[in-house]
Amino acid sequence: MNPLFLICLLFAPLLFPHWNPTTATFASEEVGFLSTASRWVVDQSGRRVKLACANWAAHLDPIVAEGLGSRPVGDIAAAVRSMGFNCVRLTWPLYLVTNASLTSVTVGESLRRLGLVESAAGVAVNNPQFVDLTLIQAFKDIISIISKTKPELLYKDALLIMQKVVSTLDRHDIMVILDNQISTPGWCCSKYDGNGFFGDTFFDPNEWLRGLQIMAETFNSSRNVVGMSLRNELRGPKQNLVDWYRYMQMGAEAVHLVNPNVLVILSGLDYDKVLTFLSVKQVELTFEGKLVFELHWYGFSDGGDWKNGNINAVCANISRLMMVKGGFLLKQGFPLFLSEFGVDIRGYNQGDNHFLSCFLSVAAELDFDWAIWALQGSYYIREGKPNFDETYGVLSSDWRKPRNLNFLQRIEALQYPFQGPGLSNRSSHHIIFHPLTGLCVLQSRSNGEPVLGSCGEYQAWSYTSELNLVLKDAGLCLQAGADGEEVKFGTQCKNLGSKWVQITDSRMLLSTYAEDNGHMVCLDLGPENSIITSTCKCLVEEGPCSSESQWFKIVDSKEKVAHIIYS
Ligand SMILES: *[C@@H]1O[C@H](CO)[C@@H](O)[C@H](O)[C@H]1NC(C)=O
Ligand SMILES: *[C@@H]1O[C@H](CO)[C@@H](O)[C@H](O)[C@H]1NC(C)=O
Ligand SMILES: *[C@@H]1O[C@H](CO)[C@@H](O)[C@H](O)[C@H]1NC(C)=O
Ligand SMILES: *[C@@H]1O[C@H](CO)[C@@H](O)[C@H](O)[C@H]1NC(C)=O
Repeated sequence: MNPLFLICLLFAPLLFPHWNPTTATFASEEVGFLSTASRWVVDQSGRRVKLACANWAAHLDPIVAEGLGSRPVGDIAAAVRSMGFNCVRLTWPLYLVTNASLTSVTVGESLRRLGLVESAAGVAVNNPQFVDLTLIQAFKDIISIISKTKPELLYKDALLIMQKVVSTLDRHDIMVILDNQISTPGWCCSKYDGNGFFGDTFFDPNEWLRGLQIMAETFNSSRNVVGMSLRNELRGPKQNLVDWYRYMQMGAEAVHLVNPNVLVILSGLDYDKVLTFLSVKQVELTFEGKLVFELHWYGFSDGGDWKNGNINAVCANISRLMMVKGGFLLKQGFPLFLSEFGVDIRGYNQGDNHFLSCFLSVAAELDFDWAIWALQGSYYIREGKPNFDETYGVLSSDWRKPRNLNFLQRIEALQYPFQGPGLSNRSSHHIIFHPLTGLCVLQSRSNGEPVLGSCGEYQAWSYTSELNLVLKDAGLCLQAGADGEEVKFGTQCKNLGSKWVQITDSRMLLSTYAEDNGHMVCLDLGPENSIITSTCKCLVEEGPCSSESQWFKIVDSKEKVAHIIYS
C-alpha cells in the first residue's frame, strides 16, 4: 500500500468528522451481486451502489481490449480506480464468441494480421502473458485481473482524487458491465453497417441470443461482472417496436436463465437515444429486481445548438427532451444508466464544453448511474487509422496519465451518490453544485466565508420558500456584497440581497440585488474558487452566448457519502 494512502486512511477520521470507518467496505464479498430497488441499483444489503463507469473498448477490429500495448492491465485498472471510477463497461463484439474462425486466434496474431506490428510488440513488452492467449481467454483474464486491483497513487497530481478511496461506499475491485457493442469487430455505429437491428446482415437474433448466453455463462461465477448491456445502440431502417420487445425480452430471459446474478441492461432505439415507448408499455419478464435501462446522450446528436445557441435555452430545452426520451423512467421506478456520454476532454470544442456543463447539472439533479465514453486514450486501429487518438478518452494517448485533471475534478462529485437507500438517516437538504468546476458552495473552514469546494464535504443547504439560501447547521444566509465583489454570510435574511431567484429557462442563474448599487446581479465564479456576483449573462433568447460560470444547480441530497475533501 502506498504510504501516502496509508496516511490518508489513518488521519481521515480526524480530518473529516463525518467519516465513519466502521462502515467502510473494501471488499466485494460484502457488496455481493447487484439488484434493483425501484430506481436504484443496490447491493445485497439494500444499500445504493452508484455505477460510475468508464467505457473500455474491446470490440474493435483486433478484438483486444485497448491499451494492452501501452500499459500492463493492472496499471490500467489502477488508473481507473485512482480516477474515481468504480466500474468499466467493457465492450465486446458478438463474433468473439460465435464465430468459429476466431476461437483459436491469439492476441498477437490478431494484431499482426491487421498489420499492427508495433501494437503487438507493445503487448509483448507491457503484457507478455497475453500475447499467446486466445482472444476470449485474454478477455477473461482482464476481468479477473481488474477484480483484484488495488488503487495506487499513480499520478502525483491525482492525490486529491486518490483520497476518495476512503469513501464509505468504496470497494477496491472494479465492477464490470459487459456490453455487446456490435456483431462484426470494428468501430461502431452507423445505420447501414449491417449491425443495427435484429435481422440486419450481421445481426441474426439467434446468434445474438446464443452469444449472450455464452458470455453470461462464462462469467456466472465472476463476482465483479455485475451487469450485461444486451446490445448497444439499436438503429437503422429495420428498427421496430414489435421486434424490440420480442427480442429484448428474449435476450433478458436468456441471460437470466444461465446467470441470474447480473443486471440485464436494455438499450433504446435510434442509437439508444429513445426509450419513450416504455412510457406506454413496459417489458414483461419472468424475474424481478434485475432490469435496468440504458440511454446515450452526446451533445453532437441531441439536437441542441450547443455552439451557437443561447445555452440557458438550449440546456433547458434538451434537458426536458431527455426526460421525455428516458428520464421519466426514474420516476416510474426503473434505474436509468446513462451508459454513454462524452466530450472532447481537452476542452477544445466549445459546443462540447457547453453540453458538458448542462449534462453535469442534469446528472447531479437526477443522480443516475453513468458510464463515460471513454477510458481509452487511443485505439490500436480505428476506421483504418493506426494509433488513433481518442480525444474523448479520460486517459492520455499513451495511457500514462489523465488527459485533463480539470475534467476529472468536474466529474468527481458525480462519482458518489447524492441520494438513495441506505446512505444515511439525515433529512433531505440541498447542495449547490457548480458544474463548470464540479465543486459545491461551502463555508470556508479558514475564514468562514462562502467558497467553492469539494461536494464531498457535508454542508447542508436549504433553499427556502422565502428564497433564502440558508446554511442549515449555521443558520446563515448567503448574501450579495457589492456588485462584482464576493458574496458573504449574514443573519439578516430578509434583506433584498439575501433573496435568490432562479432565472432563465435553465433556472441555474441565481439572481439577487447588489448591496451597493441595487443592480440585479447573479452568483458567479470569482478568482481562486471564490464566489462573487456579477451582471447576469444570456438573459435574452438569442445566442450565441455563455453563462456557464454563473450556473449553480440546487440539488436534492441526503448526507453526502463522505468522500474526502481537499483542504
Ligand atoms: C466469421 O468471421 C470472419 C472474419 O471476420 C468472417 O469473414 C465470417 O463471415 C464470419 N463468419 C460468420 C458465420 O459470421
Ligand atoms: C455457472 O454455470 C454453470 C453451468 O450452467 C453451473 O454449473 C455453475 O454452477 C454456475 N456457477 C455459478 C456460481 O452460478
Ligand atoms: C427547443 O426545442 C424545439 C423543439 O424540439 C426547437 O424547435 C427549438 O428550436 C429549441 N430551442 C432552442 C433554443 O434550442
Ligand atoms: C437508519 O435508521 C434505521 C431505522 O432506525 C436503522 O435500522 C438503520 O441502521 C439506520 N441506518 C444508518 C445508515 O444509520
